[in-house]
Amino acid sequence: MTLALDKPRSPRRPAARRSNFELASWLFMRISGIALIVLVLGHLFIMNILDGGVHRINFAFVAGRWSSPFWQLWDLSMLWLAEIHGGNGLRTVINDYARKDTTRFWLKVMLYVSMVLILALGTYVIFTFDATIPAD
Ligand code: HEM
Repeated sequence: MTLALDKPRSPRRPAARRSNFELASWLFMRISGIALIVLVLGHLFIMNILDGGVHRINFAFVAGRWSSPFWQLWDLSMLWLAEIHGGNGLRTVINDYARKDTTRFWLKVMLYVSMVLILALGTYVIFTFDATIPAD
């Protein structure tokens, strides 16, 4: 009697191209997550709790905040990190759940387009905000 294994049903694939993208993305989720804890909790505390909270937020408040490069940089970092963290997280969710290649492809196209639009619009607003704009 000869013992033999069946031939593998799938043909051999060529060795996968080595790329560290998924490792970098895994690491980015952890590092941006830590940064977001500070940025988002700080933002929530200042906007919603500290002296008067949400009741004191108006155009003048925003104008005052964004006249400082520190708060511009804070909000810019929060925008970019949250958008790329959330977008990359959603990329993982799409990869996990989309069943058809075409569905996966188009969901990711929509995701990337929305990410670029939101990042561009948000960055544009932070840098071009005009505190001297007339009220009417
Ligand atoms: C407050 C600080 C935050 C921390 C500490 C944090 C941490 C994390 C970590 C470690 C992961 C990876 C999980 C995994 O690989 O299994 C993750 C996934 C994710 N995060 Fe965050 N995150 C934060 C804020 C945010 C924000 C603001 C958004 C949305 C804009 C967001 C959206 C997502 C999404 C969509 C995923 C993917 C979920 C999944 O794979 O099932 N996160 N988060």
